[in-house]
Amino acid sequence: MKNSELIEKLKCDRNLSDDEFKVLLESDAFDEFLYRAADEKRRSIYGDEVYIRGLIEFTNYCRNNCYYCGIRRDNKKVERYRLTKEEILTCCEEGYRLGFRTFVLQGGEDSYYTDTLLCGIISEIHEHFSDCAITLSVGENSKESYRNFFNAGATRYLLRHETADAEHYQKLHPYSMSLDNRKRCLYTLKEIEYQVGSGFMVGAPYQKTEFLIEDLRFLQKLKPDMIGIGPYITHTDTPFASFENGSMLLTLRLISVLRLMFPYALIPSTTALGTIHSQGRELGLKAGANVIMPNLSPVGVRKLYSLYENKICTGEEAAQCRGCLEQRVKSAGYRIVTSIGNRIKEIE
Ligand code: 5AD
Ligand code: FES
Repeated sequence: MKNSELIEKLKCDRNLSDDEFKVLLESDAFDEFLYRAADEKRRSIYGDEVYIRGLIEFTNYCRNNCYYCGIRRDNKKVERYRLTKEEILTCCEEGYRLGFRTFVLQGGEDSYYTDTLLCGIISEIHEHFSDCAITLSVGENSKESYRNFFNAGATRYLLRHETADAEHYQKLHPYSMSLDNRKRCLYTLKEIEYQVGSGFMVGAPYQKTEFLIEDLRFLQKLKPDMIGIGPYITHTDTPFASFENGSMLLTLRLISVLRLMFPYALIPSTTALGTIHSQGRELGLKAGANVIMPNLSPVGVRKLYSLYENKICTGEEAAQCRGCLEQRVKSAGYRIVTSIGNRIKEIE
């Protein structure tokens, strides 16, 4: 089968066999067809709309020690910070003024923020900004905690599975972590009826095409509302310092494949993509992504939330990023919209 027929098949069936996925993922010959098919699909559902989510990185303390991550517990070179409830609310106020209607509270797994403290923060944001959605991204937690956060007003949760291959998962994480637990968390979040975001890194150390196909298969089972992928980017102060960055082209190819497999999904064009290439986020949109998550964290702490090196936008004010993005999204041929930006529900 020719690659263009493969793309046609993926478009119609939203699926391919493992062998077909392998051919598609390992060849760069038909990327342009793939981007075009994905863009057509996204426009048929979401038009030219791009949703924005304001990211507030509220703590860079983390009890975990993932080998790829710059804010891992054992990285003693990071200066750690925590934002107070008042600081977080100030970020939301500024974000609201700039047109954001979704706030993403992201942080390391930091026990300082007990359920009571975090729920207090969530419910205050919920009260002050009642027309906004609150998304949490604070890692693995118990069912009870997830329920507490939900009851306090957080209705969305981002937790990437990182890799759906158990052995690969173990190569990226210390033994205290497991793919089983990660999956358990994701299914629990679904059960509580959060809108769930998952995803993986592209080009992470030891990744193979077979693992990427497992990622696609896992996502078919999980059916998340959002799928976030970005290239792996090396951080010097981690055990993975000697590995190379992931590839932008493979990331774009996967965004297009995801759009064709999950036409209705919210797919962000990530900051990591914008970091490995100056036009990365624009190219991500053109390949089928429809969400951008700019930073609303105070400028003073942005450099400290260094999951990877050379992260973009760490010196700009929220308003600057908002203006810059407006231009970038427009130049790519799309339009930022100010709304909660729910996933369009598919009628089966
Ligand atoms: N490069 C790219 N992405 C990373 N993440 C963590 N470390 C890195 C890195 N070095 C991603 C993980 C995590 C998300 C918040 O950031 O996928 O889930
Ligand atoms: Fe932040 Fe361009 S999006 S400066």
